[in-house]
Amino acid sequence: MTALRVLSVVGARPQFIKAALLSRAFAAHGVTELLVHTGQHYDEAMSAAFFAELALPQPHAALGVGSGTHAQQTAEMLVRLERVLLDADPDCVLVYGDTNSTLAGALAAVKLGIPLVHVEAGLRSFDRRMPEEVNRLVADHLADLLFAPTESAAEQLRREGTDRPIAVVGDLMVDLALAVARDLPARPAVLDRFSLRSRAYVVATIHRASNTAQTARFAQLIAGLRQIGLPVIFPVHPRTRPLVEALRVGVDDEITVCEPLPYAEMIALQQHARAVVTDSGGMQKEAIVLGTPCVTLRDETEWTQTLEGGWNVLVGSDPAAIARAARRAPPVARIMPYGDGTSAARIVAAMLAHLTPRAADSCAS
Ligand code: UD1
Repeated sequence: MTALRVLSVVGARPQFIKAALLSRAFAAHGVTELLVHTGQHYDEAMSAAFFAELALPQPHAALGVGSGTHAQQTAEMLVRLERVLLDADPDCVLVYGDTNSTLAGALAAVKLGIPLVHVEAGLRSFDRRMPEEVNRLVADHLADLLFAPTESAAEQLRREGTDRPIAVVGDLMVDLALAVARDLPARPAVLDRFSLRSRAYVVATIHRASNTAQTARFAQLIAGLRQIGLPVIFPVHPRTRPLVEALRVGVDDEITVCEPLPYAEMIALQQHARAVVTDSGGMQKEAIVLGTPCVTLRDETEWTQTLEGGWNVLVGSDPAAIARAARRAPPVARIMPYGDGTSAARIVAAMLAHLTPRAADSCAS
């Protein structure tokens, strides 16, 4: 029997993380994967370092698109992806999450009549000013097969009228975080490197457009971090670097600014922190499943289950609220809302059930 040929599109750091377990599962189940890297993220610490650490396969194609306005970046991806898709003629295209690489992968596939698979479907912040919300809506409504992390995400898709197959599969990012955390030593070396005591520091990240577009808002977030009164480790996304320099963050305060860190070190730092303070989607999930309270620097979240029991709190940009939330005691009962560690196997099984090699017609359900 011919093996299913899947072309996966990745481009941004969280997508390398999501792809790690699924690429391994494809290989284990005899599915041929062609991994295409759009080049949306290109710095060594944002891209190549993750490919190496997560043992991702070498990309079948690296499009080298780089940064630009949303239109420029997405358009460049579309043009280059179309060429690769015409040449590779895969049985389906798989996209992850909600980045511009997701949007471009989805559009390029459907315009060529190639079945589209969307992993992490049905999430909504209900804020269309977020570029990610627009990307999610488009990918979800174009997809032929949708993988939702939770039943409520699947319900959202049904409410929006999706008539394509939906499978609830849990979350690849959570599965990888838990697997990596299980193998960490009791006192990970990264704590010594930053001279940290377990549960006596905070790890913070800020990169959303809504938090970095205006200096005044970013300054408020930094004021909040400074008010916590604990050491703060702040790995800085390239988008945020100019603001950090302009506001002299990390000079004469308790904030330690550093380059983006390797994946396992971020998991270790989150696991041992008193709190994670972030505007990242992925870190909200990682923090709470690792048993660390999360403080989200936004007014809404698409990962609503993280709010259960007070594990995650939304604080917007109010400095006092940031400091108070970061110092709160962890809730007593742990929550584990994003599956049971079998997301990759479930995705592969559903793909094999719903998709057939294109020669024998596709998307059979
Ligand atoms: C993108 C995703 C966001 C995701 C994030 C993870 C979109 C719309 N947003 O945001 O959902 O949470 O990735 O990190 O796709 N830059 C570099 N080097 C790099 C990458 C980026 O210098 O390797 C700088 C460039 O100045 C660029 C800016 O960061 O203009 C923003 O990068 P971009 O990929 O457009 O968006 P992210 O903020 O990374």
